[in-house]
Amino acid sequence: MSRLAVVSGGGTGIGRSTAGMLAGEGYDVIIVGRRADVLADAVKWIGPQATAVTADVADPTQIPAVVEAVGARPLDVLVNNAGAYVPSADSPPGADSTLDRVAEHWRANFDSNVLTAVLLTTALLPSLRRPGGRIILTSSIAAQKGGCGPYSAAKAALHGYALDLAVDLGDEGVTVNVISPGYVTDSEFFADRMTPEGHQTRVDATLLKRPGEPQDIAEAVRWLTGPGGAYVTAQIINVNGGSVLGR
Ligand SMILES: NC(=O)c1ccc[n+]([C@@H]2O[C@H](COP(=O)([O-])OP(=O)(O)OC[C@H]3O[C@@H](n4cnc5c(N)ncnc54)[C@H](OP(=O)(O)O)[C@@H]3O)[C@@H](O)[C@H]2O)c1
Repeated sequence: MSRLAVVSGGGTGIGRSTAGMLAGEGYDVIIVGRRADVLADAVKWIGPQATAVTADVADPTQIPAVVEAVGARPLDVLVNNAGAYVPSADSPPGADSTLDRVAEHWRANFDSNVLTAVLLTTALLPSLRRPGGRIILTSSIAAQKGGCGPYSAAKAALHGYALDLAVDLGDEGVTVNVISPGYVTDSEFFADRMTPEGHQTRVDATLLKRPGEPQDIAEAVRWLTGPGGAYVTAQIINVNGGSVLGR
């Protein structure tokens, strides 16, 4: 039987590219997201090894649908990729900011970027192959550089979570790593927020003078989930074209 992978947020962008890469490596891939139509298109794009589960992985009541899809099979790879920058309801920030709005803004970003990974990982831990399972969490250059308020803080929180998880699972032969992408185009991440100037500023900030593409991140997942990643755990892997130097 093929090896099995779960990719949250596998319907678009980095997650879809990662799911496609894993299918190409021979995995059966379960992609998870909130929009059934988007997932259905992605399943067509990825091919017959993909199946979809429609679920909000920040909602504890919707996680069992993913656990059910995995069933009794050992899970080889879990890619926690679902996440988003959730803008403040009262943009520009601080204009009319009550504490309730601040709390709502921070909770939304922590739900979207931390709870998504914590809940899905917790629910799927019993299924992970031991030894040999691989867990990946998707952070952001914002965790290192700041600039995105509660989104930066939420992504940084993932680092601490991942390190604890790696410590807990090391002696069971399961690796846990964080991939921290820089600016990546060809995804829905920036929605309608990106301007030509914003794009150019981000490209200029790289040493390689180009934006990242979803496949650049998928290639890091390929390495971490393949034989080359066997001895790598508890690491933050930066894939950012050199826009943050060496940390
Ligand atoms: N693009 C960049 O420049 C960049 C840079 C650094 C880090 N990242 C991180 O990379 C990851 C992938 O981003 P992307 O660029 O590929 O953007 P994207 O196209 O917006 O992908 C995010 C995916 O996650 C899904 N998702 C979001 N919240 C979810 C939830 N609660 N439950 C289930 N699925 C959820 C979305 O689908 P639904 O809306 O249908 O649920 C979407 O398919 C994110 O964690 C993002 O923070 C991106």
